[in-house]
Amino acid sequence: MKTGEIVLGALAPHPPHLVYAENPPQNEPRAECGWETLRWAYDGLRASVRAAKPEVIVLMSPHWRTYVGFHFLGLPHFKGLSVDPIFPNLFRYQYDLKVDVPLAEAICQATAQKGLAAKMMRNPDYRIDYGTIVSCHMINPAWDIPIVGISSHAVSAYFNFDVMETTMKTLAEATREAIAKSGQRVAVIASNSLSHRHFTTESDVPEDMSREHIYHHGQYLWDMKMIELMRQGRAQEVLDLMTDFTEQATAETDSGALSWLLHTLNVPTSPAKIHGYGSVIGTGNAVVEWKGVAL
Ligand SMILES: [Fe+2]
Repeated sequence: MKTGEIVLGALAPHPPHLVYAENPPQNEPRAECGWETLRWAYDGLRASVRAAKPEVIVLMSPHWRTYVGFHFLGLPHFKGLSVDPIFPNLFRYQYDLKVDVPLAEAICQATAQKGLAAKMMRNPDYRIDYGTIVSCHMINPAWDIPIVGISSHAVSAYFNFDVMETTMKTLAEATREAIAKSGQRVAVIASNSLSHRHFTTESDVPEDMSREHIYHHGQYLWDMKMIELMRQGRAQEVLDLMTDFTEQATAETDSGALSWLLHTLNVPTSPAKIHGYGSVIGTGNAVVEWKGVAL
């Protein structure tokens, strides 16, 4: 069998506002407009994903938080209603997704063999987290590519950021090995924002863009620093700064998803393509693409 391949990597944040503003048939609330720069950025990433022709999308979501090890979606089909716990007024989404269970099992097994706790999630009534759903919708609204969903193990909260980095590197090695053995064309996705300070009051009209802006200049500076390093192909420096960035910008990289992505891409030295950057409820969100890597 041929060796598998990572055909694309991406940072694909999951503010539910982006789905809300797009008005897809799966989402119940209706919007007039909103967050266009980020939605146009996703148009670019969608085109890249279509062109790369992945057979599977492997994604880590900060909102599937598991406290004992990494969990992997383990049934071929999940269907249900996802309601955002913070913004039920914006996101009530009927999801219907397919999972590549053999690849999920292979990554899970490889992870366990490297000494990390890992488990398949086989509960048919499990409600898929909105991070997975929003990122998958924004990448591929046709939902015609099966996914592998990986939980975010709360290592940074239980131990510290250094343990998180080491753990994510190990998980990335397991991911690479399993993809190589699968013989498939795979896209790998980290579903997280960058700086993550939220606003504390909501406007009456959520898509009122006169209210939307970053709330802390220091956080903006941190986002620009990390994005500039990505643009210059300096992923190792992104990793070196991850601890300080995460703590000082209260970044959603505490999930480990971006660290896992960069290690899975073998710490890229080629420039990342920045499709766009924008604020959602004050958080910093970048839609970023890396070229694929041979395994
Ligand atoms: Fe989030």
